[in-house]
Amino acid sequence: VDESTPPRTLSGRTLEALAEYIKSGKASKIVVMTGAGISTSAGIPDFRSPETGLYANLARLNLPYAEAVFDISYFRENPEPFYALAHELYPGKYRPTVTHSFIRLLQDKGLLLKLFTQNIDCLEREAGVSDDKIIEAHGSFARQSCIDCSQPYPEENIKEHIDKREIPRCHHCKGLVKPEIVFFGEQLPAAFFQSRTLPMQADLCIVMGTSLTVQPFASLPGMTREETPRVLINKERVGGIGSGSDDVLILGDCDDGVRKLAEACGWLEELEALWATT
Ligand code: APR
Repeated sequence: VDESTPPRTLSGRTLEALAEYIKSGKASKIVVMTGAGISTSAGIPDFRSPETGLYANLARLNLPYAEAVFDISYFRENPEPFYALAHELYPGKYRPTVTHSFIRLLQDKGLLLKLFTQNIDCLEREAGVSDDKIIEAHGSFARQSCIDCSQPYPEENIKEHIDKREIPRCHHCKGLVKPEIVFFGEQLPAAFFQSRTLPMQADLCIVMGTSLTVQPFASLPGMTREETPRVLINKERVGGIGSGSDDVLILGDCDDGVRKLAEACGWLEELEALWATT
């Protein structure tokens, strides 16, 4: 045996080998990393898919470039496009997917160490993943505040403004109010930096529905130990996952992927029952 290759954790890079590992009880500290791809089947577009992605459909907002809609300096100049988009994206209209329920199932089985999500739709919370298990790396619509004086802004007012497509202004200093979504040019929440070494403690890493193109989130899968298996459940290969000696690729729709994995673990009925109540 070539000494330089580390001993393999899985008996193969297959879904069956992965399920065997999970059923053995050796995967009890699972970190999950997710992006917009896990919410597309709920009706929320992702960002970069060619036809359906948000960035391909913002032409009507005549932005200088698509990501300007989430750029803090552009927002200061012109908050209209973001608020037009917020009207479409605001939580409460969408149901979690079976992929969100799969994460909840891992939690209920005591196997979820932490979920790192880039999503701002709060669907993980709605699926029943508890607050202490979630790191919303790019913030969320859960809170909003003034971008000048940081004064918190009451949620009920912002809902009203978003419904009426009006731009909410700070009651205190008349500054622009913005949901605490991390815009390009803004710092990620402290909670992200406090938890970013957690993947080193994980004994399994599951990455789902993300292009892994935005840093520093995209560096998370690389924080795992060499011997920690990493699973990619995604339409396409991303982030170099698949080259590691214990990487498993479950390519295709993530709802199908989590159902396949749940079935191999003997959890499919439980998963469907959980999702049916969500
Ligand atoms: N099943 C599996 N994979 C899917 C599905 C699906 N139903 N739908 C989309 N995908 C995949 C796409 O192929 C792509 O690889 O999910 C990924 C989505 O990538 P992005 O659209 O780039 O979304 P995300 O990775 O979350 O973007 C990261 O970019 O604009 C910023 O802050 C924003 O958090 C966002 C960040």
